[in-house]
Amino acid sequence: MIEKSPIDKQKYIKNLFFTSNARAAWEHILFSLKSSKNVEVLMPSYIGYTDREGSGVFDPVKTQNAHAEFYKLNEDLTIDLNHFKRLIQNKKFDCALIIHYFGFCRNNMEEIKNICRQNNVVLIEDCAHAFNLHFKDTLLGNYGDFSFYSLHKYLPTNSGGVLKRNNDKNKLKSLSIDKKIDIEDLEHYANSDFIEIAKKRRENYSLYEKYIGKNSNVHVMYELMPNDIPQTFPILIRNDNREKLYFYLFDQRAPTTALYYRLIDQITKEEFPESHKISNEILNLPVHQDTDHEDIIYICNLIRDFFGTV
Ligand SMILES: Cc1ncc(COP(=O)(O)O)c(C=O)c1O
Repeated sequence: MIEKSPIDKQKYIKNLFFTSNARAAWEHILFSLKSSKNVEVLMPSYIGYTDREGSGVFDPVKTQNAHAEFYKLNEDLTIDLNHFKRLIQNKKFDCALIIHYFGFCRNNMEEIKNICRQNNVVLIEDCAHAFNLHFKDTLLGNYGDFSFYSLHKYLPTNSGGVLKRNNDKNKLKSLSIDKKIDIEDLEHYANSDFIEIAKKRRENYSLYEKYIGKNSNVHVMYELMPNDIPQTFPILIRNDNREKLYFYLFDQRAPTTALYYRLIDQITKEEFPESHKISNEILNLPVHQDTDHEDIIYICNLIRDFFGTV
């Protein structure tokens, strides 16, 4: 029989699930992977927390009683592939989490995907900072079996997240009502022009690249590449000056963030000195769509003035 209107709910579907935030999406993945035994998860060794917000990445691991181990990262937060491979080959992990910090990915994701596939490990991409969902030619968020996103880190909403399932190898349980997105956040998502937002963020990033200038105290972490959509402009502040600069900028009405100035206790300084060094030096300057040309010149001038007087 020919139907008079469509009835197939699986046809042309993107497999997006709208959650209250990114951590609810991540928690739901762990919950869905859980069987009679607890989930073994391999995670990056750069995960922070604050007293106010807890840890968006690690709290779900705790609430799901998963057991975590951590792989080493390099100074640009790329994965130490030898360490990653060694851990995966020596122990049975159920899943591995990759974080695309600040919207950048400089990892060989094809290789990571292959390592996970060969060892039967579910690959999950944390795209909380990498909102590339609406870009057809982007691969970020499509390597993993799952990826998840944070709306309020990208849009002016208070909450909201997205869980994306890229294949049907692993089933998702049904999402409980308390983990679903608010209607207002969903409306804001549906109304947003992601192409323009990404364009503005990229323009802002390029302005920092232009104005930040040469300064031996400031290390720019990433050069902008064609498919990058930055969450912030991350810099490393050398010579123990990060905290002082952070408060100097704050006092001059230019608040910034330091993702992550405090790492979870499981990531110790003895075992992961590289992560602690980044945590001590990181400063994230705003590139969001409400930031404009003058703001960026103002911040860059403040940074220059600060190092002139330090
Ligand atoms: C890398 C990363 N993943 C996930 C989260 C959780 O995001 P949300 O606040 O949307 O739960 C955060 C922030 O807390 C984060 O920085």
